Amino acid sequence: MHIQGSVALVTGANRGLGLAYAKALLAAGARKVYAGARDPATVTLPGVIAVKLDVTRPQDITAAAAQCADVDIVVNNAGIADTTPLLDPAHGVAALRRLLDTNLHGVHAMALAFAPVLKANGGGALVNMLSALSWVSLGSLDAYSVSKAAAWALTNGLRNELRAQGTQVLAVHAGYIDTDMASHVDAPKSSPDDIARRTLEALARGESEVLADQASQQVKAGFAATPSYYLGAA
Ligand SMILES: NC(=O)c1ccc[n+]([C@@H]2O[C@H](COP(=O)([O-])OP(=O)(O)OC[C@H]3O[C@@H](n4cnc5c(N)ncnc54)[C@H](OP(=O)(O)O)[C@@H]3O)[C@@H](O)[C@H]2O)c1
Repeated sequence: MHIQGSVALVTGANRGLGLAYAKALLAAGARKVYAGARDPATVTLPGVIAVKLDVTRPQDITAAAAQCADVDIVVNNAGIADTTPLLDPAHGVAALRRLLDTNLHGVHAMALAFAPVLKANGGGALVNMLSALSWVSLGSLDAYSVSKAAAWALTNGLRNELRAQGTQVLAVHAGYIDTDMASHVDAPKSSPDDIARRTLEALARGESEVLADQASQQVKAGFAATPSYYLGAA
């Protein structure tokens, strides 16, 4: 995918990794960057176009697909985390549904709305922000892992279904990133700028998957270990 001269849309681009993606796309020569945000007033990066876009609101997605009809790169970055245990009797069900609404159904709804747009613009690329936790569960983020594992499977399915129209589908996996989402974590974290840069490099090389840090590389390698890494708490 050529980033120079492209038109990109990033969801959750007001802060965190989404902001880093928007900056990196501008730096790599994207012609136009739409910055999706639940509240467009929170988009402060110069040079982008703020778009009201809550990925759990079908009306926002429909409007965004009409407003951003010239995009050829869609970055599904928006996501939420939650530490509610799966077996929490009072809140477990609601927490998992909330996570799936954003991290799975939000990504699916964006793909449904933007697949025809990408096709009309020559194929383009869909970038889905996943996690090392798509492949392993931590005791504290089990429900989040369910949502990211489902989003990984969704990404693989979308790649199959978008192949015929020439859309590159890039899965991005990473461990902890230094954003608000991981602010409570006392562990090594990658900078959002590094993750964004590695993602765009992989996109430019035409790849389908990027393991954007050491943690994601270790977790994937752990599939082959005995016992497999995902069988125990990481
Ligand atoms: N941080 C990590 O350690 C880490 C590691 C691996 C993967 N990831 C993934 O990376 C992505 C970005 O996370 P981050 O670290 O930048 O998190 P963050 O700092 O918490 O930012 C999350 C972003 O997503 C937006 N968002 C949340 N729900 C949304 C919705 N329904 N519609 C549209 N936007 C929504 C937020 O908007 P508001 O400002 O309106 O809340 C914010 O812009 C997520 O998919 C996350 O799962 C993060």
